[in-house]
Amino acid sequence: MSTSSSRVIKCKAAVCRAKGEPVRLEEVGIEPPKASEFRIKMLYASLCHSDILCANGLPFPVFPRALGHEGVGVVESVGAGVTEFKEGDLVIPTFLGECKQCENCKSGQTNVCTTYPMPMHGLMPDNTTRMSLGGQKLYHLFSCSTWSEYTVANVNYVVKIDHPNMPLAHVSFISCGFTTGLGAPWKECKAGEDSSVVVFGLGTVRLGAIQGASMQGASRIIGVDKNEVKAAKGQVFGMTDFINPDKYDKSIAELIREGTGGSGADYCFECTGAPPLVAEALEAVKPGRGTLVQVGVGPKPAMEVLFSTLLQGRTVKGYAFGGIKTKSELPIVVDKCANKEINLDELLTHEISLDEIDQAFDLLKKPDCVKVLIKI
Ligand SMILES: NC(=O)c1ccc[n+]([C@@H]2O[C@H](COP(=O)([O-])OP(=O)(O)OC[C@H]3O[C@@H](n4cnc5c(N)ncnc54)[C@H](O)[C@@H]3O)[C@@H](O)[C@H]2O)c1
Ligand SMILES: [Zn+2]
Ligand SMILES: [Zn+2]
Repeated sequence: MSTSSSRVIKCKAAVCRAKGEPVRLEEVGIEPPKASEFRIKMLYASLCHSDILCANGLPFPVFPRALGHEGVGVVESVGAGVTEFKEGDLVIPTFLGECKQCENCKSGQTNVCTTYPMPMHGLMPDNTTRMSLGGQKLYHLFSCSTWSEYTVANVNYVVKIDHPNMPLAHVSFISCGFTTGLGAPWKECKAGEDSSVVVFGLGTVRLGAIQGASMQGASRIIGVDKNEVKAAKGQVFGMTDFINPDKYDKSIAELIREGTGGSGADYCFECTGAPPLVAEALEAVKPGRGTLVQVGVGPKPAMEVLFSTLLQGRTVKGYAFGGIKTKSELPIVVDKCANKEINLDELLTHEISLDEIDQAFDLLKKPDCVKVLIKI
């Protein structure tokens, strides 16, 4: 039964008005949910590196845009036809849908639902928005816009949390970054395989990738980052070796070949999106047998490296959200965190309120910052 009133809620949200402009707190309007939607009162949110890319116009330069795609909240009201959720449910809005009916959802090989894909255009599935700024259209960020006191989501993009005692910070962290890292080796490395894994970049995504590789039984897990401060965090999640490329005259690929018996790594998970690192990661995997899994998002990598290395039989793959299906597999990650099989205490380094959102991007650039939690 619908609990929605026709009332538009006026509240605060973090908005980027144009490409590259600072993120500011603005008063916005949040419309009531339509059919198959509900309105969420956000409790906590967090910052993922992709938010910075989105404020700079990726994947599509749609502005003004209400930012944020990690977070957790409670259902405030539901639209017509919503039976899966009710007022007061604790939920994660995600950026990938899962219909469980389309060819991709049924295949078990991918999390890219063709009915409810990642909404790059910043609109709801009916191509309209539920947010406004000064009476004008305000674009969503994917299907989330979590840095807002309220947001509206479509049921096919939302996961219910059945662990009321789980720290809300942890719930927020698995709504994108950590799960993205965790899922990639979970999907890619065969369980129990005695493999060598290299993870590039020391952010939240990388820590998830180290945890995922460790869960699959990888014997060597090498972390690569120019930031030494975060190396200790990697060890907590299962990293066995660390390379700071700035300390050597050799290329990263050479160092990895030397450290893995000469031929290279079985898997590289590239979690920065920096083109030079993408090229190094590709050259560091075993010719003929190794796989580069691209997780980081960034500008185009050098094509000549792609051709020369791919022709030697290497494989390149990419995953959004670590290949994890939101409705059917994210709850497994939630369970693992709730029962402390995965401990996320190490991720939280900085906390701000929504009023301080203009500081968030600078905080993520600090050498000791892994995750910025935002109290809404
Ligand atoms: N595929 C997906 O679905 C998905 C989801 C979330 C994030 N991402 C992407 O994953 C990447 C990581 O996200 P995050 O939130 O963990 O970022 P982050 O900013 O927290 O961490 C990035 C890390 O990479 C390191 N780094 C950057 N450039 C480097 C270089 N040239 N040499 C060595 N180290 C370098 C930094 O020191 C930092 O520790 C971003 O590109 C983000 O957009 C992708
Ligand atoms: Zn589908
Ligand atoms: Zn993200």
